[in-house]
Amino acid sequence: ANFLKERRRSEILEVLCNGLARQEYRGYDSAGLGVDGDKPGDVLFFKEVGKVAGLRKKIAGSSVDLDKTFVSQVSIAHTRWATHGPPSEVNCHPLKSDPTAEFCIVHNGIVTNSAELRLVLQKRGYKFESETDTEAVAILTKYIYDSQAVKGMSFTDLVKAVLKELEGSFAFVFKSKHFPNEVVTARRGSPLLIGVKTDKKLKVDFVDVEFAGQDDSRVETLQPTTTSSLLAPPVNPKVLRTQSRAFMSEDGLPQPIEFFIASDAAAIIEHTKRVLYLEDDDIAHISEGELHIHRLRHTEGDKSPGQIATTRTIETLELELAAIMKGKFDTFMQKEIYEQPESVVNTMRGRVNFDENKITLGGLRAYLSIMRRGRRMVFIACGTSYHSALATRAIFEELTEIPVSVELASDFLDRKTPIFRDDVCIFVSQSGETADTILALRYCMDRGALCIGVVNTVGSTLSRETHCGVHINAGPEVGVASTKAYTSQYVALLMMALQLSEDRISLVERRNQIINGLHELPRQIKKVLEGDSALKALSQTISQHKSLLLMGRGYQYATCLEGALKIKEISYMHSEGILAGELKHGPLALVDENMPVIIIMTQDSLYPKVQSAFAQITARKAKPVVLCNEDDDRIALGASTIRVPKTVDCLQGLLNIIPLQILSYHLAVNNGCDVDFPRNLAKSVTVE
Ligand code: G6P
Repeated sequence: ANFLKERRRSEILEVLCNGLARQEYRGYDSAGLGVDGDKPGDVLFFKEVGKVAGLRKKIAGSSVDLDKTFVSQVSIAHTRWATHGPPSEVNCHPLKSDPTAEFCIVHNGIVTNSAELRLVLQKRGYKFESETDTEAVAILTKYIYDSQAVKGMSFTDLVKAVLKELEGSFAFVFKSKHFPNEVVTARRGSPLLIGVKTDKKLKVDFVDVEFAGQDDSRVETLQPTTTSSLLAPPVNPKVLRTQSRAFMSEDGLPQPIEFFIASDAAAIIEHTKRVLYLEDDDIAHISEGELHIHRLRHTEGDKSPGQIATTRTIETLELELAAIMKGKFDTFMQKEIYEQPESVVNTMRGRVNFDENKITLGGLRAYLSIMRRGRRMVFIACGTSYHSALATRAIFEELTEIPVSVELASDFLDRKTPIFRDDVCIFVSQSGETADTILALRYCMDRGALCIGVVNTVGSTLSRETHCGVHINAGPEVGVASTKAYTSQYVALLMMALQLSEDRISLVERRNQIINGLHELPRQIKKVLEGDSALKALSQTISQHKSLLLMGRGYQYATCLEGALKIKEISYMHSEGILAGELKHGPLALVDENMPVIIIMTQDSLYPKVQSAFAQITARKAKPVVLCNEDDDRIALGASTIRVPKTVDCLQGLLNIIPLQILSYHLAVNNGCDVDFPRNLAKSVTVE
């Protein structure tokens, strides 16, 4: 939305398409947008199934006047990942309330009572054209607007009335011909942030929240740091509300300003780094260059106003545009694999003192004694993040002597797992926005457990809603298949276990050994990356097969699961991670001379047991590729090997996963797959 800032239609379309393209990595199947038309109130829609590039082509090929200028306007755009109805133009957002688009909206999340709403609205004669849950919300908005009871209602109050009818999770942006140059956006369960761009400096760095049912004078008193000299001349008393001050120029008059609403900072970073994050049940209204934040009326079960922050701070993002560009690499995934020597250093930066063998995770400092007193630790995550928890479980138990359970968030919730006040729950998530993990967090919060986040995305829901936590600082991860976030989560969890055990005299030697290992890690990762061309050659042979088994045990079981996940998600080849100890209980039946197998046989205390698994499969004529340490001369002569440097047992998984990431990458390229955007998958799964 821009206010008093002239923009050509072509520029507006460019901003929208670039914003969508920057979010492509989250995974989507269609893209669409709505911009102001030639006549006031008209909306022009462009929609296309597939990539944003296709949408750009469609715009370029249309006959709209690209030079038309707008001094103030609102436009909306969206990439869709199908939940209700297949990917198609008609199901693509923005969804409109009627053919003239009195209301149009974009939506992330799922409205779970949309079927009921649809029935009610259809009975009242409203026509639907799509199969989406979102359209029911657009039509519901028109229905409430049309009903006599709310004539004269403000845009915000109208949206409040709509949201009160909805169940499920959402982030919405509403645009309407009845409220030109105004936009309302709201969230519950899905991420949402607002970027602010002005030529001048903003007066204050926060926006007050207006609680439903309270009058403006209450809002005034919430603002102790601003002085009356910042107030605009009292022309319209409504404009005098404190939250508007931030958006005025020195002389107190409205200034040209642009607002960028997005679900992800990557979409807006090229325009502004000044952003504020909305909380669940916040409704933001932008009009006349001002931003006002309201709360939905409190219902039973909601937090009381006293428990909700009364301001939303305008923060400065540290994200750099270069960090979300591919640079010299063909794909984001490849770039991110190659970033690992630096990303693990960034995870450790300022936290590991290699001279004194000391770890300091500032975010946990105040909570260490509660953590140490905890009855058990429960790691909760999905996908790759789950694997990083699994990979560090053994060292956590060894160093802390606290039992650790590792849970997939969805299953944890399905089982309604008992959680108690003396439990320590650790939520691991790259995005910090995975719906299942967030729901599990809220479940554990309600039961009084200490909740800790291990998150990559600063400002994400998980990092804000946990009691405390560790940012893994791996930098933005764009490839849908997680790589550098895995190794950084692994390092962060290890550091946590090391810090928790710093008071144990008996463990000094073990801890020093691990910390020395961490010091060597970046150099060793670089060494592993040198094996890329050999892995490319190996991928050619494996590509000819339908399936690939990965076997290992102990610390390497998680490596096998994560390696197999990488292979299936991006190359679409079937792959399975197998605990070597379970071979005889089933998987051995799959093994014959035609089944490709990778067996992880790096040197740790379980080496003899893996050797026996190796013997069992070679006896069945398998010709496994052995992932082993570079100096290991015990590997059978003639066996094909992938060699990696040796490190401490609990760190070895950090090196072993890298050849598997590279292998999956080459398998995907061989198969002609879209490495960064695997079919049917999304980077950030914000729906249950
Ligand atoms: C999706 C992504 C995976 C990721 C998982 C958990 O499935 O495609 O790469 O591991 O979600 O995401 P999170 O952001 O919570 O780590």
